[in-house]
Parts: sequence; structure tokens; C-alpha cells
Amino acid sequence: MANRERFALQVNGQIHVVEAEPARRLLDVLRADLGLTSVREGCGIGVCGACTVLMGGRPVSSCLLLVSQVHGQPIVTVEGLGGNGALHPVQRAFVEHFAFQCAYCTPGFILTVVAWLEQTSGQDEESLWEYLSGNLCRCGSYRNILKAARAAARNREPPWV
Ligand code: FES
Ligand code: FES
Repeated sequence: MANRERFALQVNGQIHVVEAEPARRLLDVLRADLGLTSVREGCGIGVCGACTVLMGGRPVSSCLLLVSQVHGQPIVTVEGLGGNGALHPVQRAFVEHFAFQCAYCTPGFILTVVAWLEQTSGQDEESLWEYLSGNLCRCGSYRNILKAARAAARNREPPWV
């Protein structure tokens, strides 16, 4: 068994010290060690976006990252959005527009839309498609996901993360 090391992860604004093998996936650390089960495994190879988290504000696939690669980088999961019992505006838009069916993909989509709104004007349809190209929805909720993203863009009041 490989040696375990200690890593300080900055997740949802808090520092968590975890002991793990350096090659352990960030996805497994977040889910199993930190209990952040909004981060989901789909393909496990960087294609579906179910495991998306924000790292330094950018959407990344946590199934492709090792815990040893994320040291010191701020990570945000859906559990870190909103506050005081209130939904984040993007979460609210997803609810209001019924932008999910089984919801397995939903945390990944929400985080990607948050990043799109933080990093772009939120007015550019082409950039929205570009951002969402890394997220797949097996239930085919794309139409309502797009409606929710556009509604969140219309109503946004940054900063959100
Ligand atoms: S589980 Fe990571 S991209 Fe599919
Ligand atoms: S709502 Fe089921 S996979 Fe997207």
C-alpha cells in the first residue's frame, strides 16, 4: 500500500486536512472523506461532467485530479453555494425552470453555469454552449437547463462565489 500523506484542502471556504495516498482522486476525497456527495461519478474519465467542481473559479473534472495536485487551490462544490438556508441564484433558476429530471447531473451543470456567469458577460450564447459542452445530461433536460442559465444571467448580481 502506498504511503499516505497529509494534504490541506480549501473547500467551500474551509480548510480540511486529509490523509490520503497522493494518487487518490479528488472526487473520492470530496465524496468519501469530506462527505460532499453532490460531487458525483459518472464516466470516471473526464467526459460527463457529473464530478465537476470549481477550482480557482474554473470548472474542472474532479475524477481527473489527484489530491496531490490541488493543494492550496480554492475548491467549491454545490454545498458551498448559497448561504443562511437560501439557494444560490443559479440553484433557484434551476428549480424555477425544472432544469432536471433525475438530477444526477445537476450539481455539475449548476457549477458550470456559475463559472460561466462569473467569467463572462453572461450575454453570449456561444460561450454558454462552450461552457456546457463538458456536461452531459442522460435525461435530456438541456432545453430547461439553457432556460435556467439564461434566466440566471438576466437576474444576476455578482459576486456569487
Ligand atoms: S465522472 Fe468525471 S467527468 Fe465523468
Ligand atoms: S437530469 Fe438526469 S442526468 Fe441530467
